[in-house]
Amino acid sequence: MKKLWNTLCLLIIVSTIYKVESKDATPIVLWHGMGDSCCNPLSMGSIKSLLEKQITGVYVRSLEIGSNVIEDTENGFLMNANDQVDLVCKKLKSDKKLENGYNAMGFSQGGQFLRAIAQRCPTPPMKNLISIGGQHQGVYGIPHCPGKSSICNYVRKMLNYGAYVSFIQNHITQAEYWHDPLNEDEYKKYSIFLADINQERKINESYKENLQKLNNFVMVMFNKDTMVQPKISEWFGFYKRGSVNETFTLKESDIYIQDKLGLKEMDNKGQLHFLSVEDDHLRISDTWLINNIIDKFLI
Ligand SMILES: *[C@@H]1O[C@H](CO)[C@@H](O)[C@H](O)[C@H]1NC(C)=O
Ligand SMILES: *[C@@H]1O[C@H](CO)[C@@H](O)[C@H](O)[C@H]1NC(C)=O
Repeated sequence: MKKLWNTLCLLIIVSTIYKVESKDATPIVLWHGMGDSCCNPLSMGSIKSLLEKQITGVYVRSLEIGSNVIEDTENGFLMNANDQVDLVCKKLKSDKKLENGYNAMGFSQGGQFLRAIAQRCPTPPMKNLISIGGQHQGVYGIPHCPGKSSICNYVRKMLNYGAYVSFIQNHITQAEYWHDPLNEDEYKKYSIFLADINQERKINESYKENLQKLNNFVMVMFNKDTMVQPKISEWFGFYKRGSVNETFTLKESDIYIQDKLGLKEMDNKGQLHFLSVEDDHLRISDTWLINNIIDKFLI
C-alpha cells in the first residue's frame, strides 16, 4: 500500500512538473526563407522537430503563407511583403496559443518580415526576435537561386528590369527589399516595404516603440554567405551610398546614430546580439542552434 502511495505521489509530481513546463514554454513562430516553405522536412520541418525535442511541451508554429506548400513557396516570391505581414499578423492574433506572447525565428527574408511584425503588429507580444540570415538593410543582387527555381529566375529578370518600377515593386517580393546603393534616393522614395520599416521616408513612432518591447533582437550573419549581398545586411549594415564594395556597420548608420528605430537604446541595454556562423547562407548545425540560440534565448 505504501509503495502504491509513493508511486501515486511520484506520478502526481511528475505530471505537475510536466504541466508547468509545457505551460511555461514560450511558443515559437517560424517564418521560412525565399524558395522554401513552412513544412519542408529538410528545413523548417527539421528546425521544428529540433525545437520540440529541446524544449519540453513547446508549441511551434511554422508559418504557411497560402493554403498549401506550393502556394506558400510561390508567395515567397510573388506576394507583396506588406500583404504577407498583414496576413501573418491576422494569423498570430487568431492563434489562441500565442496570446501570452511568443518568440519569433525568421530565416533569410523571414527575418526582416518578422521584424516588420514586431514593429507593426504588437499583439500578441513578440518576446525575442531571432533573425537567421535576415537582410535588415535589404540586398543588392541575388547571386543565385535556391535549387532550380524558375520563379526565382523570373524574379531576377524583373529586378534587372527595374526594382523600383511600380508594378514590379508591388508584385515581386524581393523588389520590396531591394536596396540600390547607387540610387539611394529612389530606394527611399519607392521601396514600399524596407524603406518604410527602416523609417527612411517618415518616422512612425509606433515602429520604434513596438520594436523596443522585445527582450532581445538577435541577428545571425553567415560569414561565407554566397546568397546575400552584402552579407553585413544580416547585421543591419549595408553598402555605403554610391558604392558597391564598401560597407558600413549598423553603428555607423543614420538609423542607429539618430536612433530612428530605438536600436541604439536597445544596444545600450544589451538587447542586441550579433552572432556569426562560419559557413554559407543558412548552413547551421543543430549543435550551434542549441548552444547559441535555443539554450540562450528560447528556454
Ligand atoms: C504607423 O504604423 C502603424 C502600424 O503599421 C499604422 O497603423 C499607422 O498608420 C502608422 N502611422 C503613420 C503615421 O504612418
Ligand atoms: C571599391 O571600388 C573602387 C572603384 O573600383 C575602388 O577605387 C576602391 O578602392 C574599392 N574599395 C574597396 C574597399 O575595395
